[in-house]
Amino acid sequence: MVSQMKVAVIEGDGIGHEVIPPAVDVLKAVGLDFNNVPVEVGYGKWERTGHAIDDSDLAVMRDCDCILFGAITTPNDPNYQSVLLRIRRELDLYANVRPFRSLNIPVDTPYVAREPFDFIIVRENTEGLYGSKEEIGKDRATSTRIITLKGSERIALTACKLAKERDNRLTIVHKANVLKSCGFFREVCIDVARENGVRYNEMLVDAMAYDLILAPQKYDVLVTPNLFGDILSDVSAALVGSLGLCPSANIGDTYALFEPVHGSAPDIAGKGIANPLAAILSAKMLLEWAGEREKANLIQRAVDHVLEKGIKTADLGGQASTQNVSDAVIAYIRGIKRL
Ligand code: IPM
Ligand code: MG
Repeated sequence: MVSQMKVAVIEGDGIGHEVIPPAVDVLKAVGLDFNNVPVEVGYGKWERTGHAIDDSDLAVMRDCDCILFGAITTPNDPNYQSVLLRIRRELDLYANVRPFRSLNIPVDTPYVAREPFDFIIVRENTEGLYGSKEEIGKDRATSTRIITLKGSERIALTACKLAKERDNRLTIVHKANVLKSCGFFREVCIDVARENGVRYNEMLVDAMAYDLILAPQKYDVLVTPNLFGDILSDVSAALVGSLGLCPSANIGDTYALFEPVHGSAPDIAGKGIANPLAAILSAKMLLEWAGEREKANLIQRAVDHVLEKGIKTADLGGQASTQNVSDAVIAYIRGIKRL
């Protein structure tokens, strides 16, 4: 990694403005020497200028080492092109890596899993139903699902590498009993798992959703096409206790974007109550990607400590504000660094 990293910082819309500044402060608190390059894109910009993202924004991002991203509102408007999807595609961020781990503390939310679990969803991030091959006619609309050999091989390889660093178990999630494109994805994943000596099993996506809720502790690494990964990651966030705790990394061969799994949450935006931990843990994933493992571990310890202390935002049944939680994370980090 270059001596001073350049991080494109995109707050985006809604609570993105509230959770990204704490994540940036945490990166500073752990001592990362980086150049913060703010980039304004999103729905707010679209309303003001008619463009949600310009080519020049992408050029600024390309000139950085990676992106820290908040959230962007995507309206149900056929003329609006999702900013996030454009960035993922143009920067070829093909692997969406989403870790889900149970907390050690009780949280006051209804669907939390009973047994401890720790698994990662590896979601293909550039093709599938998100491939943008779509048409709207007068009496029908089509979205073409594109699954390629290259796309399947590289996502399977990413998942296998992660599995080998963990419990060496891969679950290939598909719907090959109905969709030929899934049959293709399945076969490529099986070949890659075999070539890499990774133990694998397979699950149909509907059964996977059911079993994740019943027995998430059974799983280690899941690999799946784009839309299935999108849906299963929200299911998994409910098992953790809140979307507000779930980070993600969108990784390509040389570039990456780190973002909370949650969206811009317009319903709570501007109230100062959004949970900043998903964004802070996304900053942790940025550090892992950059090879700064000690700094990353320090963030994880700080987050665990703050949750154990019961400093929780409303999504976890607490009363702390965004500021309270981020202050507590930063205070812990500073305290440890003084020791
Ligand atoms: C996600 C989001 C995005 C997706 C939206 C905002 C385009 O739901 O990252 O999970 O569908 O991928
Ligand atoms: Mg989603």
